[in-house]
Amino acid sequence: MFSNFNMIDNEKFTKRILITGGAGFIGSHLVRLMVNKYPDYKIINFDKLTYAGNLENLKDVENAENYFFEKGDICSKANVEKVFAENAITDVIHLAAESHVDRSIEGPLEFVITNVLGTVNLLQIAKEKWSKNEDHVFHHVSTDEVYGSLGEEGLFHESTPYDPRSPYSASKASSDHFVNAFYHTYGLPIKMSNCSNNYGSHHFPEKLIPLMINNILQKKPLPIYGKGENIRDWLWVEDHAKAIDTIFHKGKIGESYNVGGLNEWKNIDLVKFLCKVMDEKLGRQKGESEQLLTYVSDRAGHDMRYAIDASKLEKELGWTPSITFEKGLELTVDWYLENKEWMDRVTSGGYQTYYENMYDKR
Ligand code: NAD
Ligand code: TYD
Repeated sequence: MFSNFNMIDNEKFTKRILITGGAGFIGSHLVRLMVNKYPDYKIINFDKLTYAGNLENLKDVENAENYFFEKGDICSKANVEKVFAENAITDVIHLAAESHVDRSIEGPLEFVITNVLGTVNLLQIAKEKWSKNEDHVFHHVSTDEVYGSLGEEGLFHESTPYDPRSPYSASKASSDHFVNAFYHTYGLPIKMSNCSNNYGSHHFPEKLIPLMINNILQKKPLPIYGKGENIRDWLWVEDHAKAIDTIFHKGKIGESYNVGGLNEWKNIDLVKFLCKVMDEKLGRQKGESEQLLTYVSDRAGHDMRYAIDASKLEKELGWTPSITFEKGLELTVDWYLENKEWMDRVTSGGYQTYYENMYDKR
């Protein structure tokens, strides 16, 4: 039951959106965008604050009148029912997940629990709470990795068959199938987006770009898996947040949209470019950071190439990436240089030991 206070409070807002995983990398950019752009929406950030979640990412909006944080686990029926009831949730944008491929190789079960069971728990509660005659949206944020691995040619389209290869992508693919199943079976009003690799500020330094920035700063080895020839399609995280906003508001119910930047880079070329940018910023000798490049054994089942065709989103909904990779990478490096203490704080505690243990096993 809603208390009178909550009912009055809730009625002030035209939508009350539950954003799961809002303290993570992409989630924090989305929360910031939604809080600032839509003062008439109540934005509830629902996050378990795992190693990847950090409320410091949202310091600039924490006092906004339309922003609320609720610590909770998407796998808990009690936690999710409580946040739905107290806020009379009208919409969900679901980002909470275990998101790192290397960790999924080390321990797949956590990925099944959070990404599959957690998603089904949210779907089930949304289905129970929402009446069919009202306007609601359950927007599921997913990845292009569900499509598998490309050869030298071609792009992932929305119609590309699912072919996940890592435990991470298998868990995300499974969650996508459940989201679609809830649409087809129960008529739950879902939307879905599948995005390529993101980069930008507040990115946890276990993923390629922030890990390399951190290691370049500290003059530590730069671990390149295999030959470094694997290709990823990189998108600036703020452009992903804008794409989610666009799809959430303008996308068709029951449809999925690919999001990507047509910006393919071989890992080795990207890291060399990053070395060059950082040598200039740090006033180091030309070529100094490249000397840190260290080839290490390859990731098991390493997907060769990802590349997204985002033309459906561009043509139907009018979204396009706003900045070039060169500009975005420079902004990203500047942010890390200006926020070294953020990096120190998130890499203190258990993370460092975890990463080093895993790295030793390679
Ligand atoms: P992240 O790892 O930075 O953040 C995940 C967030 O989810 C963290 O704040 C964490 O505390 C929270 N969380 C984890 N388990 C939870 C649980 N059981 N209950 C509540 N909260 C929980 O991830 P990210 O990179 O920001 O990715 C967000 C979403 O976008 C994920 O669903 C991911 O699959 C998807 N995605 C990521 C990328 C990318 O390049 N990072 C690309 C495409 C799609
Ligand atoms: P990552 O950032 O983990 O994203 P994903 O695996 O989801 O695409 O890795 C991006 C690419 O960089 C991937 O091909 C693996 C590679 N990689 C390295 O070569 N060294 C590293 O230390 C890391 C973390 C990744």
